[in-house]
Amino acid sequence: MEQYAIKGGNPLVGEVEIGGAKNAALAILAAAVMTDETVLIENVPDVRDTNVLLQAMESVGVIVTKIDRHTIKVNAAQVHDLIIEDDYIKKIRASYYLIGALLGKYRKAEVALPGGCNIGLRPIDQHIKGFRALGANVRIEHGLIITETDKLIGSHVYMDVVSVGATINVMMAAVMAEGQTTVENAAKEPHVVDLANFLNSMGANIKGAGTDVIKIKGVPRLHGTEYTIIPDQIEAGTFMFAAAVTKGDVTVKNVIPKHLESISAKLLEIGCELEESDDAVRVVASKPLGHTHVKTLPYPGFPTDMQPQITVALGLSGGTSIVTESIFENRFKYVDELTRMGANIKVESNTAIIDGVEKYTGASISAPDLRAGAALVIAALAAEGTTTIDDIQYIERGYEDFDLKLQSLGAQIEKISTERELQKFKLRVV
Ligand code: EPZ
Repeated sequence: MEQYAIKGGNPLVGEVEIGGAKNAALAILAAAVMTDETVLIENVPDVRDTNVLLQAMESVGVIVTKIDRHTIKVNAAQVHDLIIEDDYIKKIRASYYLIGALLGKYRKAEVALPGGCNIGLRPIDQHIKGFRALGANVRIEHGLIITETDKLIGSHVYMDVVSVGATINVMMAAVMAEGQTTVENAAKEPHVVDLANFLNSMGANIKGAGTDVIKIKGVPRLHGTEYTIIPDQIEAGTFMFAAAVTKGDVTVKNVIPKHLESISAKLLEIGCELEESDDAVRVVASKPLGHTHVKTLPYPGFPTDMQPQITVALGLSGGTSIVTESIFENRFKYVDELTRMGANIKVESNTAIIDGVEKYTGASISAPDLRAGAALVIAALAAEGTTTIDDIQYIERGYEDFDLKLQSLGAQIEKISTERELQKFKLRVV
């Protein structure tokens, strides 16, 4: 099994190019099946999650052509099946975007029910409520969500919780429905807006994405398009916090600074200096980190996907901080691993009370999920000594070349798979 071996202590310095947003790509790739014409999508991150979704699409007859590492052509003229197998859903929950896409185009979809995941329960009641409001029959049988109808009719959907996934799924299902659909209490994340822009470039009529109320006027069909995915807000935020934690000086390039506002605000609050230009943000951490409180919220609030990274930073700050996780109930599992590295954090229900310590020390730890895994890598980069991190396949779900990008900033990190390689790494980095 592959691991990361990391020797901490080097401040990260330099520039790093941020890739396309994974969570936008997942929605946009799924939506690309909604036309029979060819769609060209640029800036697709080459990460496990997008690759698994592309395989799921190929399994039902979609023709996927890789033009280069980040440019993908999709043609869904010959879809022969409307059933997405359990295997894909098990590997990547976002395969369920194919429900909205296939239902919207073919009025039918059968997709394995996504199970619980290691950050919380993650129900899909709001997705189902939205499909039903549009007139679809939805039933759950033999572990599948089976949804079908003769026609979809525009409707009013009020989301009981702000949900990225439900907003995206309902938006796709409504795009070719008869009449107008209004989604209230919609998610406002940049990737929701990116999907709406993508669908509009295919001929859809969606207004209000990025606000609480999205209005979708049904159109008879969608056509081909060429589209470039937005930069990844969370990848950028992760490198910004890596700069803070290692007392570095890192410029994240190819970003949309507006999408990073809640992250930048917290970095400023804990004492980092920030410089912003049109498409880059520089983070300089020359002073000891200060403490703060933070609560995760839907966009434009502080993202739950940055919660482990800020917790790692606050664990090294002077003072006591409180981090409240309000989106997923089980997203502090990594704290046990961080404690093994010397952190002083007490978790009570959805709140972490963090007493800053002077340093972390290297340990053998495991990545419990994608963002927590990335946060533990950052902790290891700041730690004294060597850390090994198992289960890095979680990290590779959402970060392209994470180790290589960190190396380019001066980090001592390597992917290893044997004890011998670990010993060699240790000899090299002393
Ligand atoms: C998306 O997940 C992201 N995934 C997650 O990123 C991200 O953490 C999350 O949004 C929040 O920003 C993708 O975009 C593929 P939600 P999603 O529906 O859509 C509750 C990462 O690391 N809820 O916005 O599944 C739910 O339990 C991943 O990249 C319902 O109650 O999240 C949660 O408490 C992990 N009923 C809250 O809403 C529903 O029907 C927000 O979940 C749907 C959701």
